[in-house]
Amino acid sequence: ARLPELLRRMPKAELHIHIEGSLEPELIFELAQRNGVKLAYPGVEALRRAYAFTNLQSFLDIYYAGASVLLKEQDFYDMAWAYFERAAADHVVHAELFFDPQTHTARGVAMRTVIDGLHRACEDARARLGVDGSLILCFLRHLSEAEAFATLEEAMPFRDKFIGVGLDSSEVGHPPEKFAGVFERCRELGLHLVAHAGEEGPPAYVWTALDTLHVERIDHGVQSVKDPALMKRLAKDRIPLTVCPLSNLKLCVFPKLEDHNLKQLLDAGIVATVNSDDPAYFGGYMNDNFLQTFAATGMDARHAYQLAANSFEASFVDEAMKKKWR
Ligand code: ADE
Ligand code: ZN
Repeated sequence: ARLPELLRRMPKAELHIHIEGSLEPELIFELAQRNGVKLAYPGVEALRRAYAFTNLQSFLDIYYAGASVLLKEQDFYDMAWAYFERAAADHVVHAELFFDPQTHTARGVAMRTVIDGLHRACEDARARLGVDGSLILCFLRHLSEAEAFATLEEAMPFRDKFIGVGLDSSEVGHPPEKFAGVFERCRELGLHLVAHAGEEGPPAYVWTALDTLHVERIDHGVQSVKDPALMKRLAKDRIPLTVCPLSNLKLCVFPKLEDHNLKQLLDAGIVATVNSDDPAYFGGYMNDNFLQTFAATGMDARHAYQLAANSFEASFVDEAMKKKWR
């Protein structure tokens, strides 16, 4: 079979998608109108033209502005449902969705509104699209650990509707160890733990995500190639990296897709996966990430098979389900 067709059709899991980053400009304007929210851009085209990022922060500023149109339970449902339809088209059979509750609760949206809308979309995706979805609550690392604790407390009535916690937003200057206490509490609660580390930040942040927060996966982690001892640790302990090639390109982590180190990570025996991060902002969903990255880096069918297998191994589904997928 031709490689592009294999990449498109192979069943895969997506483990690094911020659901607020799946909000397409068209839906942003539709929700703005529905909710009477004023935007700083006159229309879809002007908004899309603003998607020219130089680094992570330049993206985050516009990403948080886009999320300001989300007010009602139905808004969160509509956003997640649109993502699940795209996922199904890309043969994603399992997706673990990050969400940023603090972006919404800070605007007076109730935690229940956020979680109920997203969770209802997960249930409908399973029933109507055959896509298995679950939720991971992310703490914003530019805010304080006390605010993370308060957010966890607010979410506890809905503990059965999310499977884990993550750490995202502005990385440099906000190392994982800033959140040691709240991650310890989440570990006691039996939540799965992940954190963004080594996207723009140094290998030291990957080390402390592992050894201080005790995370099970690293989101991004591409800066790990700068530290040979860390590369060995990731490979030996089979710590998955949820890599997002088009995101790294658009946020100028790599100057060209040809320079991306995904192949190097895989060839070092690391459980790397391909993911879309914020597909509405970075120009591509899962299959766009696979197709463009393979075309640019000269990976082959063995890499494709490895990435699909890695995505299921790295997922938080139970072992019985993983056996079925193997
Ligand atoms: N929030 C949404 N996308 C993110 C990314 N790529 N890094 C950190 N925080 C994020
Ligand atoms: Zn991310």
